Amino acid sequence: MENTNKFKFVKGIPLIPEIHDVEEIERMCDDFEVRDNDVIIMTYPKSGTHWMIDILSLIYSKGDPTWVKSVPYWKRSPWIEVKGSIGIIKNQVDPRLLTSHLPIQLFPKSYFTSKAKMICVARNPRDIIVSLYHFCSQGPFHALYSNFEQVFDGFLQGNVFFGSWFDHIKGWLSRRDSENFLFVTYEELHQDFMASVKKICQFLGKELSEEEINLVVENASFQVMKQRMLEDKEFIPMKNTEYLKMITLRKGICGDWKNYFTVTQMETFNQLYQEKMNRLDQDLFPWDQC
Ligand code: A3P
Repeated sequence: MENTNKFKFVKGIPLIPEIHDVEEIERMCDDFEVRDNDVIIMTYPKSGTHWMIDILSLIYSKGDPTWVKSVPYWKRSPWIEVKGSIGIIKNQVDPRLLTSHLPIQLFPKSYFTSKAKMICVARNPRDIIVSLYHFCSQGPFHALYSNFEQVFDGFLQGNVFFGSWFDHIKGWLSRRDSENFLFVTYEELHQDFMASVKKICQFLGKELSEEEINLVVENASFQVMKQRMLEDKEFIPMKNTEYLKMITLRKGICGDWKNYFTVTQMETFNQLYQEKMNRLDQDLFPWDQC
């Protein structure tokens, strides 16, 4: 496992010390104050996080793209575990939009007694592997893995940032009976984007006109988001982010894994998937329907 040295582990979860506030995460778990009006986007990396941030930002601005055009993602909806976010979060006004990739056991405890709303976006883990591979194949994360096989094996072993996808999804899905928790899949956004936006509006208690919904759909489309991202001068507060800016919105499709997995990888993956997920309701995961 070549990449083990590049990670720092917080309660067994691999994180990237250059980005994640590894020294503070455990303290934040006890101290961070989640507010009742907070809206939290919860995802495993590469599951459509930026998409959901733009959808929510646009819902809150009634489809007007001024906010999404002028303020970068990490200021509109800071990732709570990222270095420097706490200072930004302190200056956010209610309702705060927050983002996180943290597994349930590392998430601030105050959330569990709050009325904060959480939208959890999940994606076919096979497509996550492909997306992650491209994300790490050049740029600041290129040292983590040398090739697709390493990303594939790392993912299966939970040796990727934020750990095992299987544990992550099962952990957060334990919240799905809470009325303040909405489970959305990347695939469902693809299948009927308009209906998904309406469902999210309803969950947030936001009443938008048809015209405003149309604006949300248009301004959160792949092509429009891609163009905005390429023009974003503050995309990530790091050096050498040109590659990440280009690759974060790479293809934006379902099922690209079929172009990458060998037959053996497909079988290995399916076997592990069955072992890990067999007690969960299959209807929750429309992976193969689009
Ligand atoms: P691909 O690499 O498969 O293209 P995250 O934001 O969690 O890092 O996820 C990134 C993935 O979400 C990328 O997948 C990206 O293309 C996809 N994505 C982001 N915005 C999208 C949109 N508007 N429509 C479809 N896919 C989108």
